[in-house]
Amino acid sequence: MRLGIAISGVGSNMLALAQACRDGRIPADIALVASDRNDAPGLVRATELGLPTATIARNRDETRDQHDARLRAAFESNGVDCIALAGYMRILSADFVAAYAGRLLNIHPSLLPRHKGLHTHRAALAAHDREHGATVHFVVPEMDSGPIIAQAAVPVLPTDDETALAARVLAVEHRIYPQALKLVAEGRVTVANGRCLIDGRRVETFS
Ligand code: GRF
Repeated sequence: MRLGIAISGVGSNMLALAQACRDGRIPADIALVASDRNDAPGLVRATELGLPTATIARNRDETRDQHDARLRAAFESNGVDCIALAGYMRILSADFVAAYAGRLLNIHPSLLPRHKGLHTHRAALAAHDREHGATVHFVVPEMDSGPIIAQAAVPVLPTDDETALAARVLAVEHRIYPQALKLVAEGRVTVANGRCLIDGRRVETFS
């Protein structure tokens, strides 16, 4: 599998995926790390790893469709057949999502369907959740709503602030994103009635 990764920021999930590809845990090669921001620290880290990178910055005078068409062209010209969004902070156009349906994954820092959107750690604390976590899912046009491939919970501690909780969640993100990509790369994930099946079986609980 030729994996494309889209980032906007630090890129710690991108690094976790790169490491997993490198040591054989994911049967894939990273064909391109693309960012919508030329100042994304993850671009530097990807370059240090010898990964191909591209910046597809948003031009003020172009629409979302036009920007995403350029992003898609960059992935296609590098032979990418599966894309992992890893802290990519823009909503993708319907055309982009349709083009990569079933081959486009995202990681979200909450136990979806709880806390879609931004500021999930703040939301979990405000709701006095006892558990929080992370979810890997296929991307569909509706934000943070696609079939769930992997999910992992962490406890919310009485002493937590957003920073402490975010760090605990990020650690599980780095574990479950490679696990989910491995399953997808091995062709073990299918979708039926909007739910993921792994090896043909519905997953009731995640670890
Ligand atoms: C992660 O928490 C991810 O779940 C969210 O954005 C953050 C990106 O972190 N979508 P990084 O850039 O991978 O370090």
